[in-house]
Amino acid sequence: MGAGLAGTVLAPATGLVLFPLHEDVTSGGEEFVMVGDRAQFGVVPRRVEIFADRKDAWNRVTRVRIGAAFVAVKGGTLSAFSTVCPHLGCGIDFDEESSCFKCPCHRSSFDLEGAVTEGPAPRGLDALEIEDRDGSIAVMYQRFRQGVAQKELLG
Ligand code: FES
Repeated sequence: MGAGLAGTVLAPATGLVLFPLHEDVTSGGEEFVMVGDRAQFGVVPRRVEIFADRKDAWNRVTRVRIGAAFVAVKGGTLSAFSTVCPHLGCGIDFDEESSCFKCPCHRSSFDLEGAVTEGPAPRGLDALEIEDRDGSIAVMYQRFRQGVAQKELLG
C-alpha cells in the first residue's frame, strides 16, 4: 500500500520535473521589440540593445538582453543589422571615420548596406526585420548560423 501511495505522489511530480526535457518550453524574444523613436535615428547607424521577456517551465524573467542591432534611417528607408559577425560570431562595431562596419576578430569589413568589403566573413551582415509604428521603431531580433554563405535562421 505504501508503494502505491508513493507512486501516486511521485509519478505526477516526476512528469512535471521532466516536462521541459521533451517539450519546447522556452519562449520570448520572437516578437518585434521597440527600440526608440524614429527621430533618434539617422544615416549613421546607431547601436541599440534589444531586451525581451523570457519564460520557461519554471521562470519568467523580464527585460533580458537578447542581443543588439545597428539601426539607421536613410532617405526614408529603415535598416537594421545584427551586431553578430556572420563569420564566427564576434561583436561588430561601426567605425564612423571610415563609415563602415568592422569586426575586430578577423578584420572583416562591411559597407553601410551590410555587404562584405574585406575579410573572411562568408556573407554580409544579417539584416533584421524593422518597422515604423507611428513614429516608434520596432526590430525583430533573430540569430543566424555563423560561418555559412547563406543566411540561415537558428531555431
Ligand atoms: S568573427 Fe568577424 S571576422 Fe571572424
